[in-house]
Amino acid sequence: MDKQILILRGDGIGPEIMDQAIRVLQTIGDTFGHSFHLTDGLIGGAAIDEAGTPLPEATIEKAKSSDAVLLGAVGGPKWDQNPSDLRPERGLLGIRKALDLYANLRPVKGFKTLTDASPLKREVIEGSDLLIVRELTGGLYFGRPSERREDGHVVVDTLHYTKTEMTRIIKKAFESAQLRSKKLTSVDKANVLESSKMWREIVEEESKNYPDVTVEHVLVDACAMKLITSPTAFDTIVTENMFGDILSDEASVLTGSLGMLPSASLSESGVGLYEPAHGSAPDIAGENIANPIAMILSTAMMLRHSFHLDAEATAIECAVEQAINNGYHTKDLQVSIGTCLSTTDMTNQIIKHI
Ligand code: NAI
Ligand code: MG
Repeated sequence: MDKQILILRGDGIGPEIMDQAIRVLQTIGDTFGHSFHLTDGLIGGAAIDEAGTPLPEATIEKAKSSDAVLLGAVGGPKWDQNPSDLRPERGLLGIRKALDLYANLRPVKGFKTLTDASPLKREVIEGSDLLIVRELTGGLYFGRPSERREDGHVVVDTLHYTKTEMTRIIKKAFESAQLRSKKLTSVDKANVLESSKMWREIVEEESKNYPDVTVEHVLVDACAMKLITSPTAFDTIVTENMFGDILSDEASVLTGSLGMLPSASLSESGVGLYEPAHGSAPDIAGENIANPIAMILSTAMMLRHSFHLDAEATAIECAVEQAINNGYHTKDLQVSIGTCLSTTDMTNQIIKHI
């Protein structure tokens, strides 16, 4: 198989973890006989420095002509005081919108040997394995108006969704649930929000098309609590943009480190974007201690979702699991046993098992 991949290293630890993902990808290419053609592009702070904008037009063009995009992370203190249109994070929102990446899939899986690394009790998190399906291009983060009024004494943000936008993410979630344990939890605030009432109606309507999937509705506040008191009660969770943002960060606690969580952002037919759930970790950048696993597992998601290379994706996921089960981990995972490795040595351990 011959594929074009756009590589957006970004800022902070972005370049370091991307180098590791590329090594893993090359191993997969060599082992399974595929050619992955990599092209570099600019995004975030690096793009601001080189091109004067967080998302150069050339990056969007390259993304659209690629088969998939791999992204490290963006941002850092260097650009924190910039005006809002010259903030690295603008590049992220921009590329999500430009590629219409409406579906964000975030798998959260706790590893047995790492349960120590979570502040939650072992018996609570053991066996947790869930998927959060988050709407990514609508809702409060994109609704207009979003502004201060009356000399700054009034403020308004807009939660805007069309039925089409809700339906496509809900369908995606049903399809994802079908590939897992066929249980879907729809999260909303239907006791208060009109948008959530419509969301719930659409979930009910769509559930008729997926009779094999069991559906439950949970209010977002209750879900936030249940996620850390009984995470194994969940399998696939679907929710709108802001609720998904918050719940997926909360769920990361189950794995012991943000550095373990991959994500996929998908469009209806076009190119998908794959990135770790964490940010650019400027506090540890350049030290070769960052956890490369979120980036490596994101690469596995690319193989599965964009290229339909299931065996190859599984090979990476199993290799990660074996390296962890052999007691290897990076510094972000506070575990009492095992061996703490650098970014590159952790990757070596993973590559050994592919
Ligand atoms: P962060 O996720 O970068 O870091 C939070 C904490 O987790 C830090 O202590 C960091 O060292 C640690 N951490 C994160 N990823 C790690 C990894 N792979 N290995 C080891 N430790 C890791 O979030 P923070 O500090 O709030 O933001 C830093 C910058 O990243 C900011 O400029 C922020 O805007 C940006 N950001 C970018 C995102 C993206 O590119 N998707 C998402 C979130 C934040
Ligand atoms: Mg977040």
